[in-house]
Amino acid sequence: MKVTNEAAQLAHEDRFGQRGRLFRAPARVNLIGEHTDYTGGLVMPMAIDFHTVAVISPREDERLMFYSENYEQETFIEIPSLEGGRRGHWSDYPAGVAWSLRKEGVEFGGFNMTLAGDVPLGAGLSSSASIEVAVAMAIQAMADEHLPLEKLATLCRRAENEYVGAKSGIMDQFVVAGAVAHRAMMLDTRSLKFDLLPLPGDVRVVIANSMVKHAVATGEYGNRRDEVEAGQAVLQQERGIALLRDATLADLEACREKMTPESFARCRHIITENARVLQARETLLADDMNRFGELMVEAHKSFRDDFAASCEEVDTLVSIALRQPGCVGARITGGGFGGCTVNVVNVSAAEEFVSAVRREYAQATGIEADCFVCEPADGALALAEKGGAA
Ligand code: GLA
Repeated sequence: MKVTNEAAQLAHEDRFGQRGRLFRAPARVNLIGEHTDYTGGLVMPMAIDFHTVAVISPREDERLMFYSENYEQETFIEIPSLEGGRRGHWSDYPAGVAWSLRKEGVEFGGFNMTLAGDVPLGAGLSSSASIEVAVAMAIQAMADEHLPLEKLATLCRRAENEYVGAKSGIMDQFVVAGAVAHRAMMLDTRSLKFDLLPLPGDVRVVIANSMVKHAVATGEYGNRRDEVEAGQAVLQQERGIALLRDATLADLEACREKMTPESFARCRHIITENARVLQARETLLADDMNRFGELMVEAHKSFRDDFAASCEEVDTLVSIALRQPGCVGARITGGGFGGCTVNVVNVSAAEEFVSAVRREYAQATGIEADCFVCEPADGALALAEKGGAA
């Protein structure tokens, strides 16, 4: 069910006896540029119409009270205890953001916060960044701060990396905070410079959920990242590059014997993926969606074979999608090991695409896939500016 501002306010009022200030942050889907964002590379995500809502009102003491509508659970942490680190609980996300804001020098006292959301969990649509950014927006408003996009995204990422303990890059927090409706965002994760790119009106982005859960906070994502970083370290030493982003395939080839075959393949995925993102930008500007679709297909193969982070169900979902009339391109999106595919489909075929994919995926796997037809949505800052904050 969609989360509404009014329902979130009512929940807050019921529990804490006061209305609060309300902030929304969307989820995101990544069109292309996967696992490039922790080695300074390029990504092209967009925000989508699923949200986390945070309602906040001040308290007289030092207590941070968090109530989750979704978990129907209340928990608290005292400000001085934030230094104690994670507790292995959903509240690590909001507590981590509070911790990170304080590290940024933002001063605040206790508060009551209600969190509600409709972002599918563990689907690779960035429910965690959505929570982090909504919470950061709410706390900074209470503290009367207006942090710029780069700071906001970076401090949310720090909460996830250092407090929650998930080694994610900057893509999710940045697009969830900074996206603009009707535009995809090509972000350079090293400089944090970005381009807002229009998607042609005659295509739709369709997200299909394989329903295989993935979690960034556990094992595989971190293992891949370690393999990438080991490869990057060799390239730094042997070729004098600063970040994997700067390496060419020739650099990598020259270092083949110095790294494990796994690190070699992971780095090859990233080097070719950065090049695909640049080409994807050109195809959008030239309105060449057929080439954009081909790039998505190449990206999927590279993710599956070189990055070894897809899974059988997701590969099935991609093959089914590519067989459908009007499908321009399809690939896995997000961290991998399950989660969703992103598909670009001609607008006139979108409805039939959804039913055919659902039907054929159920026949092949016995699993009912949730599918959503999406358009690029506003990020949290644009929403707040447009009065999404009450
Ligand atoms: C997760 C992480 C992101 C990014 C993607 C893969 O969503 O949170 O930082 O690394 O995986 O592209």
